[in-house]
Amino acid sequence: MSVGSGQADLYGVPFSGLPKYPMSNNDDYKPTTRLVHGPSHSAKWDFSHHVTPPLSSSTTYRLDSAERGARGFTEFGQYVRDDGETPVYIYDRLDEPTRSILEGELCDAEGGECCVTFASGMAAIAASMSSILALGDEIVTHPVVYGCTHSLFTNWYPKFGFPVHYHNLNDIEGLAQVVSDKTRVLFMESPANPTLELIDLGALRAFADKVNERRPDDRKLLIYVDNTFATPFCQRPIALGADVVLHSLTKNIGGFGTEIGGAVIAPKSMLSTLLLYRKDFGAILSSKSAWAIMVYGLPTLPLRLKRQQYTANIVAPWLEKFDGIVQVTYPGLDSFPQRDLAHKQLRDFDNDFAPGNMIYFTVNDDVIDAKGLLNYVAENAYSVTLAVSLGHTKTLIESPANMTHSSYTDGSAASSTGIRLSIGLESPGDIQRDLEAAISAARRNTQPA
Ligand SMILES: Cc1ncc(COP(=O)(O)O)c(C=O)c1O
Repeated sequence: MSVGSGQADLYGVPFSGLPKYPMSNNDDYKPTTRLVHGPSHSAKWDFSHHVTPPLSSSTTYRLDSAERGARGFTEFGQYVRDDGETPVYIYDRLDEPTRSILEGELCDAEGGECCVTFASGMAAIAASMSSILALGDEIVTHPVVYGCTHSLFTNWYPKFGFPVHYHNLNDIEGLAQVVSDKTRVLFMESPANPTLELIDLGALRAFADKVNERRPDDRKLLIYVDNTFATPFCQRPIALGADVVLHSLTKNIGGFGTEIGGAVIAPKSMLSTLLLYRKDFGAILSSKSAWAIMVYGLPTLPLRLKRQQYTANIVAPWLEKFDGIVQVTYPGLDSFPQRDLAHKQLRDFDNDFAPGNMIYFTVNDDVIDAKGLLNYVAENAYSVTLAVSLGHTKTLIESPANMTHSSYTDGSAASSTGIRLSIGLESPGDIQRDLEAAISAARRNTQPA
């Protein structure tokens, strides 16, 4: 896709050829800078003229010979990304440049070997599993995960012949009893949605390495971490021990609440299978969404997260002081049950502690009416919005037990009085003002009659 290259003459000035840029990101630059500039020297496009990456919007690609068309199909899924060669693009569902430039950026941000994007976070999770599992292969998951992931594991995978076991992945001793030769994947979110529980990834890596000593390469036990809450800004799971990182790009990475997308960052050995799976199951990320995520989302990720984290660090301890709020969970609080692990794993690009923008709190229903609090927000608040999703410019509040995690029909993921708060970019005092009004309005009248 060499736009502009090979031209003999520009405005009468002899054209000496476009400069040859280095292929991948320059490791000498900080990740924050690389998120702004991206792999703008990718073989996926000629960036010699564009400052903002171009948005390619073509369902199909001109083939200059029948041989080139045949080569594109033969090579699809076999090429190593960003190896310096521009791939032969054939058809959008197979591969296309805007999406693949974003994939290069995500791969770099997570420190992975390859990245394949999908139409949503759920499509990415499903593809990362279904593309490697064979009939009878098993998954062990941490019990608390996003509601639709839980639904995938309970409603679909057992039916497809992939049994799923639930086990606390911080209980390594017990895990040895659950993992069998058939287990291919240990799945978790860390921090978990919505409780913010962390998994000790170093301990899990040591466990998996031991299991893998007696396994062939194509049957290794793989550690999958959904890093949607933390984002690569707050945590790089691969450096901590994960094999595969998953993202809902819809959340913090997209950041503005305008695009749905997902990504799998994986070892190079999984690249062709993921690409072939995506080609055949078809859940591609549209180039328009990829472009918005790349141009708006990624460059502003550190800025947004830092600001949201600043506000979360004000709001979380402030919430702790309210009578009737029984527990506030935020990795930045001294009261956070896994404080040491949080300080070890949640580190930003400058190695500063990065507890993120998510707060989870529970209220005592005898003192504060949780539903009333949310309804008050819905009807009266300006700076806090009753809505699912997270990692938005706007502060979003919801009830996981009744909404995002309602697939847990036994209520085991979240308390019925639990409230998830995703901090946005508003002024901290305004968020406090709206929350305080909602808490006061929802306070039950406990005065004796
Ligand atoms: C942790 C986590 N993973 C995955 C998803 C699914 O993402 P999407 O809505 O983009 O499919 C979500 C959605 O809320 C999530 O919170």
